[in-house]
Amino acid sequence: MNYGTFDDAAREYVITRPDTPRAWSNYLGSRRYGAIITNHAGGYSFTRSPAEGRFLRHRYNAVPMDLPGRQFYLRDRDSGDFWSAAWQPVGKPLDEFKSTTRFGPGYAVIESAWRGITSEATYFVPLDQDFEYWRLRVTNPGSATRKLSVFSYCEFTTEWNLIQDTLNLQYAQYISDAVWRDGIILASSCKRLPEDPQNFANHDQSRWWWMTQLGGTIAGFDCEREKFLGVYRSYDRPEAVERGACGNHEHFSDNGCGAIQSDLELAPGESADVLVLLGIGQGPKAKSVRAKFGHVAACERELAKLKQHWHALLDTMQVKTPDADFDHMTNVWGAYNALMTFEWSRSCSLVYTGDQRDGFGFRDTVQDFLGVTGMMPDAVRERMVLMLSGQDSTGGAQPEIRPWSHAPGKMKPTPPHHYRSDDCLWFFNSVPAYVAETGDVEFYNEVVPYADKGKDTVFGHLRRALEFNLTRTGRNGLPCGLLADWNDCLKLGYKGESVFVTFQVRYGLQVLADLAAKLGKPKDQKWALAELAKLDKKIAKVCWDGGWFIWAIAEDGTVFGTKKAKEGKVYLNTQCWAILSGAATPEQTDKALAAVKKHLSSEYGVALCNPPFAKTPVKVMRAVLFNPGNKENGGIFSHTQSWVVLAEIARGNGDEAYRYYRAFMPAAQNDQAEIREIEPYVHCQSTHAPASKKYGRSRVPWLSGTASWSHFTATQHILGIRPEIEGLRIDPCIPKSWPGFSVKRVFRGKTLHIEVKNPRGVSRGVKSLTLNGTPIAGNLLPAKLLKNGVTIVAELG
Ligand code: GLC
Repeated sequence: MNYGTFDDAAREYVITRPDTPRAWSNYLGSRRYGAIITNHAGGYSFTRSPAEGRFLRHRYNAVPMDLPGRQFYLRDRDSGDFWSAAWQPVGKPLDEFKSTTRFGPGYAVIESAWRGITSEATYFVPLDQDFEYWRLRVTNPGSATRKLSVFSYCEFTTEWNLIQDTLNLQYAQYISDAVWRDGIILASSCKRLPEDPQNFANHDQSRWWWMTQLGGTIAGFDCEREKFLGVYRSYDRPEAVERGACGNHEHFSDNGCGAIQSDLELAPGESADVLVLLGIGQGPKAKSVRAKFGHVAACERELAKLKQHWHALLDTMQVKTPDADFDHMTNVWGAYNALMTFEWSRSCSLVYTGDQRDGFGFRDTVQDFLGVTGMMPDAVRERMVLMLSGQDSTGGAQPEIRPWSHAPGKMKPTPPHHYRSDDCLWFFNSVPAYVAETGDVEFYNEVVPYADKGKDTVFGHLRRALEFNLTRTGRNGLPCGLLADWNDCLKLGYKGESVFVTFQVRYGLQVLADLAAKLGKPKDQKWALAELAKLDKKIAKVCWDGGWFIWAIAEDGTVFGTKKAKEGKVYLNTQCWAILSGAATPEQTDKALAAVKKHLSSEYGVALCNPPFAKTPVKVMRAVLFNPGNKENGGIFSHTQSWVVLAEIARGNGDEAYRYYRAFMPAAQNDQAEIREIEPYVHCQSTHAPASKKYGRSRVPWLSGTASWSHFTATQHILGIRPEIEGLRIDPCIPKSWPGFSVKRVFRGKTLHIEVKNPRGVSRGVKSLTLNGTPIAGNLLPAKLLKNGVTIVAELG
């Protein structure tokens, strides 16, 4: 069953049934002014940080799950009947209430129809501004005049710090107020204190925000939540709406809100607009924004600019393949999902609150570059420098970087027992990908400070990352797992050994050796190759269990992931990374992938391990905390799915790789939305595995390493349009049944038209390549030949 469709021409997902299995969401704005919105106009707004800059309140995991938000209520002044511009919160019967939501990059449009009135509510944050628009267009297509009142409503926080606002009520309920001045609600928190813009996380400062409404006759306002809603009511039946009039209450302590009433009279066929502007700042700022942006033409112009911005980013790569679902993801949603994950890390959604995970988690952020480098190389470079400056001089990383308080060179070094083993190793994937995309080889020579003290070139940072792991090894000489490797639940004891990280280090040593050769650094090359040879010996001795690679070795010598183990017998990540790092022999590759297929794969993806843990002590394996088949305890962890695809591609098996790719591709499950339940247009953190009682349910949509890895895998490895320093490699690995595909790709500022033909029905292997009709030997297009507008034809065979 589906609840909506993809409209690729408009670059929108259109929700056609509002009673989605869960509220489905989208993002507005950027770090300057960010917001979440759902198909019921639920959600919240914040500036810079959802944990420290929250001014629209949201109660997480509440009932219903996505309210309050940005409501428009409509009321017929003759009959007293009222409804909401989205289906919820009033929730009129769906046999009569019609509603459609269009989500596009950075905006939402909710259309509805109820008893002869249609409305269209558009929400977005204009580019480079710190306010949001809600535009409601109300139409009377009927034959009689209709008298309507429109009420906007949102709930304010009292303290911009999420936890204070939510839990410290004996304090937070006495610090806020809101007044009505010149048609503007001016809201504040701690308004007697000075502002402290340099120190964003300082709670002892005043914060200011505002809301105004234009259109119709402004008939009233309410800024005190209980006055608008009523004490024993909820969002479905606000007292002011039922009564038909706001009470003009300002707010002083307790809970604030923004509610403004516009009265409209619509002749037959007539439409009217109600425009809400909500932003941060004080009265003069509010007035100047209202003067400049408070009319429909400005709103339309800003929306057009916003769409143009996003469309230009998506235009950097557009594909046409035989699989429409793949195209929905690759052309629009996969790319946009990766961009949003890059922007927000794991800080804000209906699940992520900003609490615990504010700022940029190290390992996640360094992986998040992979999917967006082609779209925004400059932003990636800037963020990469930030993350490199979060590496300690030991070579390990600070666990989280908060851009508003990060001071490179001056941070306290991470306590030794807080280091994760994998954090900086992800640079070996993302830094070369950035340099290949841009040709910016000089980046390796750029000097970047370490977080605590000292500085080095980017190349030096990479080498230091490897030294960090090579000097922290366990009893078999393999790198330690430390606090965690990629898997947050792995508790091996600080000196336990991570086979996953062993393979990451192997990969890193190979990358560094190749790089050193290119950059003319023979000593580094020699060092890396010698370390690699030493490591390979240990891998050969310790890591293979006969049918597959082991998982890890705990400090006490316990070996995980062996055929003898009752729980966690086969672990996905070490099979994939043995292959991706080049450690696995061809025979081991085949066996490891066969084990993955047999023990881990399912219709909705590949489980992280199997069987899940039930009896293993939690001290050893924290995953046992989770229900079997969930998350790290043998769930289908979406982040890892691309690694299986890449491992199958490494052995040239396009059919199997694609089967794995489709299994976790959201769009492929659009017609089974009742199973997956979450948004069919974005990735998620994990899906319940067959071992779970909720097999197939997916959870934690949007922000996940999955977005980046899957977009990277689709574009650079399935389609195989892969930047390298010297040029563009054309190396697809596709299902044999695909007759070919075409790609428009912007590479280093030039637009290229690429046609791949597969007349012999193979998966891999470019047989011939032409550029504007001229044959090119091999499958690498040299950068200097790639002029704007050229046509490239590759034939597989
Ligand atoms: C979550 C974390 C990520 C970690 C993964 C596995 O997705 O964000 O950092 O690697 O879980 O534990």
